[in-house]
Amino acid sequence: MRMSEKDVSSSPTPRLDVEIISLFPEVFDSFLCTSLLGKAVEIGIVRVTRTSPRDFAQGRHRKVDDASYGGGPGMVLRPEPVAAAIEAVEATRGRAYRVLLSPSGRLFDQALAVDFARRGRLMLICGRYEGVDERIADLFADEVVSIGDYVLAGGEMAAAVMIEAMARLVPGVLGCEASTVDESFSRGRLEYPQWTRPPSFRGVDVPEVLLSGNHAQVARYRRLESLRRTGTRRPDLFLGNPLTEEEKGLLEGGRAKRKTKPRGKPSSPS
Ligand code: 6GU
Repeated sequence: MRMSEKDVSSSPTPRLDVEIISLFPEVFDSFLCTSLLGKAVEIGIVRVTRTSPRDFAQGRHRKVDDASYGGGPGMVLRPEPVAAAIEAVEATRGRAYRVLLSPSGRLFDQALAVDFARRGRLMLICGRYEGVDERIADLFADEVVSIGDYVLAGGEMAAAVMIEAMARLVPGVLGCEASTVDESFSRGRLEYPQWTRPPSFRGVDVPEVLLSGNHAQVARYRRLESLRRTGTRRPDLFLGNPLTEEEKGLLEGGRAKRKTKPRGKPSSPS
């Protein structure tokens, strides 16, 4: 019987298929079993397979690292066990888009998460020690990616970050598909603030407009707060997505209306 598109509960092939190459595959245990990702893995929409280069290392000691040519501190991951792991994985399950995780890579952002999630089959190659022999990047990697401007001891946490960012974009993982539309970064703007019950908490009230039931005013309020927040916290986002004329108008209107500064926040320079 052919399964309907909506019947994800018994999906025969995963919509996101990730191969992790890591010397510490156990690091991902709880991460892959928990919450929405855990559910997606359990029902098979997302598949994550872990392979350790250690299992492909030669010799009695299965040594995977060595000193850096030219000198310097720390050890470098040798190319042979990593190459052997990559080739073994692809010989069994097929070619994947190969991403080497390194602090010297291109920055992973929401646009790249969308791009990678669409590829369907992805290999995340985690470095450890001081780095991976450059020939892995040269001969195997389709791309080298970093998750931010700081240095981690290895690529494992970066791989987890990327998997979570991609998995929630896969239809059927999030549950409420609309949630991915409004959120931070989707349009180069930070997400608007949100509140839930109670209406008053320790003297801080939920903005009245949100209790009004006036959907147009709520939408206007949220867009304005999104712009203000972006301006205060991440003005760099405006460089890639400049204010539209409509947004400028919204900000002008907001300035005229705002007589008091918002609670708990410094007033924005205007
Ligand atoms: Cl992908 N790896 C390591 N080791 N550190 C990082 C990183 C990756 N991204 C940011 N810092």
